[in-house]
Amino acid sequence: MKRLFLIVAVVLPGVLAYAESGLNIVPTPKSVTVSEGFFRLDKNTALVVEDSAFEEIATDFKDQVKHVSLLNGSKTRIVLRKRPGFGKEAYRLTVTPSEVLIEASEVNGAFYGLQTFKQLLPDDIYAQVIKKPLKFLAPCCTIDDEPEFWYRGLLFDSGRFFFPKEEIMKFIDLMSMYKQNMFHWHLTEDQGWRIQIDKYPKLTEVGAWRKETAWHSGIGNGIPHGGFYTKDDIREVVEYARRRCVTVIPEVEIPGHSTAAIAAYPELSCFPDRHYEVETRWGIWKNLYAPTATTFRFLEDVFTELFELFPSPIYHIGGDEAPKDVYKESQYCQDLMTVLGLENEEELQTFFVKRIGDFLRKNGKTVIGWDEILDGGALEDPIAMSYRGHAPAVKGIKRGIRVILTPNRWCYLDNKQEDMADSVDQNLFMPLKKVYNYYPAVDSLADLSKKYIVGYETCLWTEYVPDNKTAEYQAFPRNVAAAEVGWTSRENKDWESFRRRMPKVLATLDWKGIQYCPVYYDVIFDYDRNIEFPKAMNLEIEDPTAVIRYTLDGSTPTAKSPVYDGRPFMVDRGSVIKARGFRKGQPIGKVVTKEFQK
Ligand code: ACM
Repeated sequence: MKRLFLIVAVVLPGVLAYAESGLNIVPTPKSVTVSEGFFRLDKNTALVVEDSAFEEIATDFKDQVKHVSLLNGSKTRIVLRKRPGFGKEAYRLTVTPSEVLIEASEVNGAFYGLQTFKQLLPDDIYAQVIKKPLKFLAPCCTIDDEPEFWYRGLLFDSGRFFFPKEEIMKFIDLMSMYKQNMFHWHLTEDQGWRIQIDKYPKLTEVGAWRKETAWHSGIGNGIPHGGFYTKDDIREVVEYARRRCVTVIPEVEIPGHSTAAIAAYPELSCFPDRHYEVETRWGIWKNLYAPTATTFRFLEDVFTELFELFPSPIYHIGGDEAPKDVYKESQYCQDLMTVLGLENEEELQTFFVKRIGDFLRKNGKTVIGWDEILDGGALEDPIAMSYRGHAPAVKGIKRGIRVILTPNRWCYLDNKQEDMADSVDQNLFMPLKKVYNYYPAVDSLADLSKKYIVGYETCLWTEYVPDNKTAEYQAFPRNVAAAEVGWTSRENKDWESFRRRMPKVLATLDWKGIQYCPVYYDVIFDYDRNIEFPKAMNLEIEDPTAVIRYTLDGSTPTAKSPVYDGRPFMVDRGSVIKARGFRKGQPIGKVVTKEFQK
């Protein structure tokens, strides 16, 4: 009854702007019309699959809502109908009291229609076990939907720390619920090689393990770390993702970030007689693959084994952060540059990357590289990931090269989302609102952006993310905001609407067992970390139903403390600010403190 009351109270029928509709769908669909009444999902509901192409997603859906049964229903029905003329990921969802109709041309669209339908239901549809009577109401509506961007990705760095396959699948599941479609798996690093390759067993015998881990200080913790995915693990993850319309894109870094491989096979380096160990510290290392026949054979062998595992039409070859010191030092490299008529070591990297890129293209793969691949310009029809801000994107789109935006200030999930003195994440401040308000385009080049910017990706780098709990904390809920950035048109994006939809998102994350950052209910200190004192301080809270109360005398804020009025105030060395959100006089979230040392 409580559930029924809630829905009736907030859903307003009629043709409404989405933000006013009361539907809590994330990402915001392209168009929504709410009408009278409700569809009731219960054991009297049938699932009708009109085309065998949709059989598999229907089976998975049934499995996910098994507490509702959906076996031999007769009163109401959910129909999956194939209809030509929709884009690959587009769907129409029509909910009436007697029927839920999902129309799509392809399985991706139908899958997304089902995700949206689930979001129309109360959040406990995501529960694993439900004790109460099993009926769920969805408001009647018509939704026409398709994504703004073709590429909606998340990078997961399994190189810096190894994460079990179960955690990887948990992330992929969440991505698919919010209609992200590209899982970019960073699998090789200086600090660890993470994929079984039969022809080169030392990659995992040696390259997957490091002696210890050293943080910012460079002092190691003495605890060995390692792990790798077997071929069966990879197959399981790729299949799991396929069933959720997520493509798994493997990344093998070349020519840099390759110390782990070189530690296993020093003959891949410019100086095979030197001793190499899997790196224990973070940073940019100078070990590069040598541009030799041995290395090219090795990489082609590795990719050939990967082709069996990853059917993705897109492969990532890294290309970032490769200081050329060893190419300068190596007589072989200098001679090769002379023979090839290359002017400098940058051109030698270009030669290297082009060689591997051509091999991938011959095998039917589109190549993605970090934005350094734009420096050489020799690859045929690549996709560049612009991570060092927007300048590389400008360079790329002006040359007619497709670009995915991953600028680190808006997209790196290891950046801070709250202000905790003891946190070891990266120092950039990137709260939920900043992630949400980003739009992947170069505004001064609107037409070129439309044509060549194909998408957007968040990156979970894991130098300071050693375990599942921290990974989930850093990624969520910000990655849900990111999902809306990639899917929803600029006109339909609205932070005020998004923050109102967050409680449903957080409830869903709870059902999914995600240990997200609960900063939604806490006050955020918003100030410029890079300027001198005294400076302006803003207080913010994402929960729109909360008021902020704060103190400047070190006392704990209560329901009687001053309300923050939205205007910045000045702080200086020695200032202590304590703040908390309140709703109807009751505290929410925790007391947060910012103390600036004298
Ligand atoms: C990167 O952040 N080096 C891609």
